[in-house]
Amino acid sequence: MPSSRAGHYCVVVGDGLLSPRSPVIASALGGQRALLVTTPTVARLYAASFDALAREQQISYDTLILACDEAHKTLAKVEIICARALDLQIERRGVLIALGGGICSDLVGVAASMIRRGIAHVRIPTTLIAQIDAGIGIKAAVNFGAKKSFLGSFYPPGAVIVDPAFLGSTSPRMLCHGLSEILKIAIVRDARLFDLVADHHAQLVRSRFQHPMEPGRQIIALAIQDMLDELAPNLYEDQTYERRVDFGHTFSPLFEAMSAFTIPHGDAVSLDMALTVNIAAELGYLSDVHRVAILDTLAAVGLPVHHPVMTADVCVGAMMATLAHRDGRLNLVLPTSVGQSTFWPDVIPTRVLEDALARLPHGGRGRRMPLRRPAEAGDVDTGEVVSAPRAAAMR
Ligand SMILES: NC(=O)c1ccc[n+]([C@@H]2O[C@H](COP(=O)([O-])OP(=O)(O)OC[C@H]3O[C@@H](n4cnc5c(N)ncnc54)[C@H](O)[C@@H]3O)[C@@H](O)[C@H]2O)c1
Ligand SMILES: [Zn+2]
Repeated sequence: MPSSRAGHYCVVVGDGLLSPRSPVIASALGGQRALLVTTPTVARLYAASFDALAREQQISYDTLILACDEAHKTLAKVEIICARALDLQIERRGVLIALGGGICSDLVGVAASMIRRGIAHVRIPTTLIAQIDAGIGIKAAVNFGAKKSFLGSFYPPGAVIVDPAFLGSTSPRMLCHGLSEILKIAIVRDARLFDLVADHHAQLVRSRFQHPMEPGRQIIALAIQDMLDELAPNLYEDQTYERRVDFGHTFSPLFEAMSAFTIPHGDAVSLDMALTVNIAAELGYLSDVHRVAILDTLAAVGLPVHHPVMTADVCVGAMMATLAHRDGRLNLVLPTSVGQSTFWPDVIPTRVLEDALARLPHGGRGRRMPLRRPAEAGDVDTGEVVSAPRAAAMR
């Protein structure tokens, strides 16, 4: 009894995809009846444009506007989507559309995976985080109790439609949160992407990612491609628990939960990355030049590199929770330079953790020192990178 199902989904990236003449969204829906799920802000900004497109492209749809924040990203909100689908008699071949940020696409993904044991969903991500991360993979989850993303499923979308024009109405904070996830993937595998962010983040945040056009579009395309390349060989996370995209996601779930979800996801990821680069340096994997370049770039982008929630006890608790999640191994992603990384399998010794925490700049966010990575094109190392763990790592 073979039980796997082959499939694929397209990620379309381009401008003007919400214009009435663009066939992209209609073609992703395949002529099926749809339930558009969106948030109040996104509805106010884009519902009329979607409606004009739907009329022109003969899309048959209803709308559900759902207010939701991280503290309420729960099964109860998923049930609201399911109830509306039931009311509207959305059939087995019906489609849910997530028009919104990562919370919207997570809720819709979970609902789609449950309604009639699984119906199609199409994602139209409207925040930077959703366009380059939350909307791209196949994971959808809600929080449960105090546990971040405890309930959910691996459930591929039918299509993902990314139009950077949506970013024009987002806030600088939201863009910073997206840049946090972009820096995550850049630090572990893509030095060119890191340089592009380091060089252009200020202008791009000021212009809401509309100018300069070329590097803005390049950053989004590279971040998406990097993400897909990392996910593809292990899409269902059943091949290995070593996942580079977990960088920034070992300690951050507990930081978020401990703050009752008042620390936004992108900020929590930045805090985790800052701590982890210090751990990498303490363990002898990362030179101080690269460590400082990463910390200064996070701060220059306006991301936090320290928060009172980051105590040794909380970090140990986060490692224990992660062990349960990664089959008994920590598999902490350690940068070895900007754009390269390795895995550390075991729990980090408490002394190393305490030293790494103590070395975090306690000045908070926003030290204005945008830096390129120290080794310029050609990646000639400065000679300071220590590529093997020091004996001290084992203390
Ligand atoms: N499933 C995954 O693989 C995955 C990956 C990364 C993050 N996430 C999740 O994504 C969530 C964060 O997503 P987010 O940062 O997009 O936040 P979000 O979904 O909360 O959106 C933030 C706010 O922005 C508004 N908004 C959305 N698009 C807008 C636009 N174009 N203009 C103006 N306002 C707009 C929304 O209404 C919302 O109020 C977290 O819950 C995180 O856990 C999931
Ligand atoms: Zn994330």
